[in-house]
Amino acid sequence: MTRLVINGDIKKGKINKNIYGQFAEHLGRCIYGGFWVGKDSEIPNVNGIRKDVVEALKNIKIPVLRWPGGCFADEYHWRDGIGPQEERPVMVNTHWGGVTENNHFGTHEFMELCDMLGAEPYINGNVGSGTVHEMQQWVEYMTFDGKSPMSAEREKNGRKEPWKLKYFGVGNENWGCGGNMRPEYYADLYRRYATYVRNFGHNEIYKIACGPSVDDYHWTEVLMKEAGKYMHGLSLHHYTIPGPSWQEKGSATGFEEDQWFNAMKKALYMDELVTKHSTIMDKYDPDKKVGLIVDEWGGWYDVEPGTNPGFLYQQNTLRDALIAGVTLNIFQAHCDRVQMANIAQVINVLQSMILTEGDKMLLTPTYHVFDLYKVHQDAELLSMAISNNSNYSYGEDSLNQVSASASIDKENKIHISLCNIDPKNKTDIECCIRGVNISSVSGRILTSKDMDAHNTFDNNENLKPESFKDFIVNDDVISIKLPAKSVAVLTVEVNNYITNQQ
Ligand code: AHR
Repeated sequence: MTRLVINGDIKKGKINKNIYGQFAEHLGRCIYGGFWVGKDSEIPNVNGIRKDVVEALKNIKIPVLRWPGGCFADEYHWRDGIGPQEERPVMVNTHWGGVTENNHFGTHEFMELCDMLGAEPYINGNVGSGTVHEMQQWVEYMTFDGKSPMSAEREKNGRKEPWKLKYFGVGNENWGCGGNMRPEYYADLYRRYATYVRNFGHNEIYKIACGPSVDDYHWTEVLMKEAGKYMHGLSLHHYTIPGPSWQEKGSATGFEEDQWFNAMKKALYMDELVTKHSTIMDKYDPDKKVGLIVDEWGGWYDVEPGTNPGFLYQQNTLRDALIAGVTLNIFQAHCDRVQMANIAQVINVLQSMILTEGDKMLLTPTYHVFDLYKVHQDAELLSMAISNNSNYSYGEDSLNQVSASASIDKENKIHISLCNIDPKNKTDIECCIRGVNISSVSGRILTSKDMDAHNTFDNNENLKPESFKDFIVNDDVISIKLPAKSVAVLTVEVNNYITNQQ
């Protein structure tokens, strides 16, 4: 039996709600068809932005949205996306499918979308193929609050007031699609570009440098050493690919247990990555002023048969729900360093929250995990010890069966997120909550008999959270029977604190 001891009276720090951030790139049908249908569309919209997806995403309280890429960011020239839509130049999205991009969705449309969602914008600038001047002018265009050529142009384009813009990324994957740079070269470029990302008026920008790919610890070392004091955040990208290589990533549905196991193993690897990159960051930034920003993560599979390989459109199953659940638990455990994360990507691309087809829309299992976990946003992480964790074994290899995280919110409600990654075996958990008197416990769960359970446009409620009651409360102990392949969140209402316990 797995034992969890949660110290209800020992807080470990605030879980930055931005860990629940999202990513939207000009890629496939994320922007066009996903968010943007245009004002003349028959699909209900506000100024061209789909109403149904906005409503659904508001429910999961998206705190921050990263845009316009990704690899697209280092090919994007922001001036192409302002002014009257019909006059905007057309470009080729060379990185993603070679399709033409009409630039109808640009800065104004993105800012309006963020307003509708109640999300902070996180804009990623172009270092790979853009100039310092271009980046400088974009920031001025968006945030300058006085009279200037850029603010005059913004006003001419329909927006008098500057926008509030906090998060700005200086390049994306500059070790790869963003210019194939060496870390020493990028560190110098970062220092140069970031100098001109100015704070105008009361707008203060949190500058995010391009960080490592997966386990490139050398990149982190060089960036922190050479540019650490000029940045507020350093990014990290890690995708969960169940197959043996990028050429054989595996199918999003209809997979066997070997691919389930690999996916769990690769998702759990995030813990090692965050720990090791944080250790390097600690060397240069012991006060943890620089946030680790995991601005791309999630499952990446072969595209759905018959779809454009450059569009990265994939189904989303219970396996994705587990990937999301364990990864979010990891980010929470590292909330002292991980200040933001952006799952890739919000609609129709990679591990999405939402899939659309024409006017139809469905919510994925990953959406439901973000819905279950939203209670952790800005809550205080509670100290927790897990012991005697059962094994999930496959072949010669094994992993811990249970992943867990607990937080306490402003109303003193404790939320415990639990994942059982074993697709075949349920598990018993004895969860002791010290330091509080439990008054009631309720739960919700996402599970199914099938590893690849998913929603389709014909059956969009096949997999959704249900009420969970398979637990018994005895004083301060909750005895839980957690089904195989499940993600659950328990809400514990407490009567009062037992004071002075340590
Ligand atoms: O999310 C898809 C792509 O993955 C992004 O454009 C890029 O940054 C990463 O390689």
